[in-house]
Amino acid sequence: MNQSNKQFSALRGAARNSPESGIVEVINYGREREGLIPLWAGEGDLPTPQFICDAATRSLAAGETFYTWQRGIPELRQALADYHNRHYPGNFTDERFYVTGSGMQAIQVAIQSIAGEGDEIIVPTPAWPNFTAALELNGGVPVCVPMRFGNKGWQLDLEELFDAVTDKTRAIFFNSPSNPAGWTASLDELKAVLDFAREKGIWIISDEVYNRFYYGDSEYAPSFYEIVEDDDLILFVNTFSKNWAMTGWRIGWISCHPRLGGVMENIIHYNTSGVAAFMQRAAVTAVEEGEEFVRYQIARAREGREIVREALSKSPRIRFAPPDGAFYQLFQIEGFEDTSKLGLQLVDEANIGVVPGHAFGPGAEQFNRLCFARDADQMREAMRRLMDWVAKIS
Ligand SMILES: Cc1ncc(COP(=O)(O)O)c(C=O)c1O
Repeated sequence: MNQSNKQFSALRGAARNSPESGIVEVINYGREREGLIPLWAGEGDLPTPQFICDAATRSLAAGETFYTWQRGIPELRQALADYHNRHYPGNFTDERFYVTGSGMQAIQVAIQSIAGEGDEIIVPTPAWPNFTAALELNGGVPVCVPMRFGNKGWQLDLEELFDAVTDKTRAIFFNSPSNPAGWTASLDELKAVLDFAREKGIWIISDEVYNRFYYGDSEYAPSFYEIVEDDDLILFVNTFSKNWAMTGWRIGWISCHPRLGGVMENIIHYNTSGVAAFMQRAAVTAVEEGEEFVRYQIARAREGREIVREALSKSPRIRFAPPDGAFYQLFQIEGFEDTSKLGLQLVDEANIGVVPGHAFGPGAEQFNRLCFARDADQMREAMRRLMDWVAKIS
């Protein structure tokens, strides 16, 4: 065994076996292609608005370069409370909010505070793969409950979800609206899940990062905030990435009952020791002044969704249902049910970037995911390329 193998095998198994992301595989393959339209990542094409960037610049110029509050600066925690009071029922105070270095890190904090070696967390799939991978890295065990695609689009059978609970179950990870399916739980479904979790004494980790990207009649998708009570075992994870086009900044938050705040602060402290002050200043500006931009992005995503719906409907060989929320479309091409290399093939032959469904766990292996949070003209061009390709291979 050579030195590098020795080093490799001396790593923790959970670290060594950490999976390569199926999303990253396609991105790495196609990222330098001339003229490629990338619909692969979970982000749109708009940069962060200038007024948000300016707040960060001002903070740096003012010398805010020191360690700061582990739990988040008071102004940001208050801004988050005000934001939630404006948009959701309930009476939110700053004491509910803990600033993290991304939504991803909010998920890590949630996992670290709930699940250790051998603990199980139930995950409806297809799901964003980072949750299950982060859980495994922490020694936990994801128990996947696949949704099914039928005439009504994606459906989660709650009985199957409940049947997956064992005496090792610590939590249900619930992402609604979901990445990648866009599946969105009704308020009744949320109530049923919350009642079940109460009865079993297990946690819910509610990932509501796409809550505002909802194509139903209301301003946001049904949320656990509408039904949660003071002593429920629930942690909310969220991010600045999507609403305010800040994916590259890496800042998010966790929301929980204030009595858990000390624990959250400690866990944040031993992971990152807090988020840079200049990023937090930008986040304050985003929440306080960015509502018009959020609405603009949602309107754009709604248009992108419609362009995709129109294009995909033209081929009887494509199976899909327009999503209720988030900004992704899953679609299956007849004759291309093995999608493992389809993402790479579409890079080569259609000059568009989409990701294979197998990247999202059991349930969507035969599907592909595209992100439609883009400029309408680019979306039309991307869909023209895809549909020309489908017509050619018929
Ligand atoms: C469902 C879901 N949760 C959380 C995140 C985390 O976002 P970030 O780490 O960029 O804040 C993402 C990002 O794509 C996501 O899709």
